[in-house]
Amino acid sequence: KFEGLAKTPPLGWNSWNTFATDINEQLVKDIADKFVELGLKDAGYEYIVLDDGWMAKERDANGNLIADPIKFPNGMKALADYIHSKGLKFGLYNCAGSKTCAGYPGSRGYEYQDARSYASWNVDFLKYDWCNTGKINAESAYITMRDALKAAERPIVFSICEWGDNQPWKWGKEVGHLWRVTGDIINCWDCEVGHGSWSSWGIWKIINMRKDIRKAAGPGHWNDFDMMEVGNGMTDAEDRTHFAMWSMLASPLIMGNDLRTASKETIKTLTNKEVISVNQDKLGIQGFRFTNENNTEIWLKPLENDNWAMTFVNMSDTPMEINFDWNKHDIGDDVNGKRMDLKNNTFKIRDLFNHKNLGDTSKNLIQKLNSHDVLMIQLNKI
Ligand code: DGJ
Repeated sequence: KFEGLAKTPPLGWNSWNTFATDINEQLVKDIADKFVELGLKDAGYEYIVLDDGWMAKERDANGNLIADPIKFPNGMKALADYIHSKGLKFGLYNCAGSKTCAGYPGSRGYEYQDARSYASWNVDFLKYDWCNTGKINAESAYITMRDALKAAERPIVFSICEWGDNQPWKWGKEVGHLWRVTGDIINCWDCEVGHGSWSSWGIWKIINMRKDIRKAAGPGHWNDFDMMEVGNGMTDAEDRTHFAMWSMLASPLIMGNDLRTASKETIKTLTNKEVISVNQDKLGIQGFRFTNENNTEIWLKPLENDNWAMTFVNMSDTPMEINFDWNKHDIGDDVNGKRMDLKNNTFKIRDLFNHKNLGDTSKNLIQKLNSHDVLMIQLNKI
């Protein structure tokens, strides 16, 4: 059961980026309603995950975790039932340490008991954090929780949230379905806020820090580039680029914005099925940077049926023109032991944000691109 989960990157929403610990039952129900109303469910989003702050500050007399009685007066089972009634799935958060990062009861020493609680509430996803862990070994701590989830006999996607210090991409495949690769994301293009290990990272900082671990990702085991900041303050162009890049990276697409107040443009980006289908491609290959010359990032991602996704990003502060000569570039990748080459074939070009066809690769690709905006295309073999 555990092994068969997350064959493509999980799609969903998490409370942390916008609400931190200020969460409650009505908010979560509203979010579930919005999944349906705004077409997010239809676009493939499935998991609604409560991050830190859902618990009461203390366990009960028997050591069981309990939901905060003020924020969640009907408890977690009732909330899970509501979410399931919408055809969606429900996720919770805890932490490998003695306390969560926000100071709620951690799972250390209670792993099996907590896993049984989650299963009894019909939880489908567990995000498992890394605060207050003292000197414990990361891999074994996550293995303990994985085994506890397996023993609870409910299929629960296991999301490792360790920030990269213990290189979960080297051991995570056997332990969880996704693992965070960096510290926390923040809603900016390329900034660093804070310092050292306590920094939060803008989207290009995160991408550049971890672009070289792509071979660790694949069906059932993903590099998690963190919950998205789409709709949280960057420009619409930057949000499109962020969304395109998370799709190219085969990262989980976990929304982190307030869906009750999201703009039309934000929802248009988040529900772009052509982009999501690149993220959800069955091969599950994480894309790679091809070049970053002349203020242009060019990324590629091999897809099923010898197709490719390709993304051009204008990193400069001014508009530019892309003029890409297919004959002058040698694009290829090793795909499950087989070489996949672009140059031996001709491809039809599909623009995934403007939903139109752009001819084929027998002629140069010429397109205008605004500052920080993205041209994301799919190359479909003729
Ligand atoms: C640190 C994690 O990286 C965040 O995503 C979030 O879960 C917070 N902890 C919660 O305290």
